[in-house]
Amino acid sequence: MSVIQAVRGTKDILPDEILKWHKLEEIARKVSANYGYKELRTPIFEKTEVFTRGVGDGTDIVNKEMYSFLDRGGESITLRPEQTAAIVRAVIQNNLLKENSTTRLYYIGQYFRYERPQKGRLREFHQYGAECINSPYPESDAEVICLAVSLINKLGITDYKLRLNSLGNEISRANYRNVLINFLESNKEKLSEESKARLTTNPLRILDSKNPIDIEITTKAPNILDSLDNESIEHFDEVKKLLTASDINYEISPNLVRGLDYYSHTVFEFQSTYLGAQDAFGGGGRYNSLFKELGGKDTPAVGFAMGIERLLLILEQIEQQEMENLKDLIDVIIVPTSEKHLDTAMRVANIVRNKLELSCLVDVNRRSMKSQLREGNKWEVMWALIIGDDEAATDSVTVKYMMEKIEQSSIKIEDIVKQNW
Ligand code: HAM
Repeated sequence: MSVIQAVRGTKDILPDEILKWHKLEEIARKVSANYGYKELRTPIFEKTEVFTRGVGDGTDIVNKEMYSFLDRGGESITLRPEQTAAIVRAVIQNNLLKENSTTRLYYIGQYFRYERPQKGRLREFHQYGAECINSPYPESDAEVICLAVSLINKLGITDYKLRLNSLGNEISRANYRNVLINFLESNKEKLSEESKARLTTNPLRILDSKNPIDIEITTKAPNILDSLDNESIEHFDEVKKLLTASDINYEISPNLVRGLDYYSHTVFEFQSTYLGAQDAFGGGGRYNSLFKELGGKDTPAVGFAMGIERLLLILEQIEQQEMENLKDLIDVIIVPTSEKHLDTAMRVANIVRNKLELSCLVDVNRRSMKSQLREGNKWEVMWALIIGDDEAATDSVTVKYMMEKIEQSSIKIEDIVKQNW
C-alpha cells in the first residue's frame, strides 16, 4: 500500500526542532506579560461569517484562501485564516470589555490559508499576535509596535525594516479610494489582469501588487497620505512622534495597504531580507470598525501578528551567518603532532597572534594530526603550521596551504614574522 504524505503546505514539527518553538513561545509570552497582555485562546474553527464579515469580502483571504466546509449540521464553518476577527467575536461574546479601560490580549496558534506553498508560505502556519482593545489614541498604536519590536529585539533580530503607513479614518480612506480608482481607470489597459479584476473589488490592494507591470503604474499613483484629513494626520503624526521617542526606526511606505479590509489609520509591516519573496514576517494596524462589523459596540482597537515559521527562518539564517563569520575569523591552525610539541605550538601561536596579528587556533583536545587538519578545514583556515619531531629538532614548522594543493614548505620559527602571509 502506498505511504500517505502530509497535506501539501503543512509540516510536522519534529522533536529535533521543537526546542526552538518552545523557546520562541516562551520569549513571546514573557514579552507579552511585560506589557500587561494576557493570553486568549479561541477555537480553531469559527462560523464562516466571522471572517467574511470581519476580514472582508473583497480580500484574497476570503475569496481564495479559506478552508470552509459545511459541517454535518449544514453550517458553514471555516478553519481560522487569522486571529483578529475571532478575537473580536470572543471579546464581544464573553463581555471582556470594560468601560473606559483597555483589554490587552495576545495569542499563539495555528492558522490556515489555501495559498501556493513556497519558502515561508504554508497552508497551515503559526502566528504570535497581540491586540490592544478599546483605545482610539495613537499611544495604543505605538504600544503594540513597541511590543512587536521588543519581541524582535529579544529574539536577536537586528536586521529588519519597519514599514509604516496611514490609511486615515473612514472618510479619508473613502476619498482616497475614489481618487485612486479615477487614476487607475485611466491606466486600466496597462494593469495586470489580476489588478484589473481588483479595480472594483479592492482597488487599494493594487498598490502593493508585486507585478512589475503594476508597479510601473502604481509608483505614479496619487499618494494616500495626501488624502488624509486633519484628524487622520494628527493621529499619524502622534504615532510617529511616539515611535521616535521610543527609539524605533521606521520607513514611511504610502503603498503599504495590507491584505485585510478592517484597517483604518495606522498600518505597519516588518520586513526582512533574509526571507526572499515572502519577506513580511509580521504586520498589523488599527481596526476601529471591526467590532461594529461583528455586531458589537463601536470599539477602537489596534494589533499585529507575526508568522512564527518566518521568525524561525530568520533566526536560522542569522545563526548560519554567524557560523560563516566565525569561520572567517580564523586564519591559521597550529598542529602539534603529539603533546610533546605543545610548548612549541604555544610559542608559534603567540608569534602568529601577537606579531603577525593573525587569528589562530591550537587544538586543546590532543587530537590526531588528521582530525586537527579536518577541524582546520571546517574553519576554512588558510594555513596549517605543523610541528612534528623533525620540525622540533630543527626549530621549524611545516607550512601547509589549506586552500589549494600547494607543496608544503618548511620554515624556521624565527623567520615566521618575516614571511609574507
Ligand atoms: P497578516 O499580515 O495576514 O496579518 O499575517 C501576519 C503574519 O503571518 C505575516 O506577516 C506572516 O509572517 C504570517 N503569515 C501569513 N500568511 C502566512 C502563510 N501562508 N504562511 C506562513 N506565514 C504566514 C494578520 O493575520 C492580521 N490578523 C494581523 C493583525 C492583528 N492585525 C491587527 N491585529
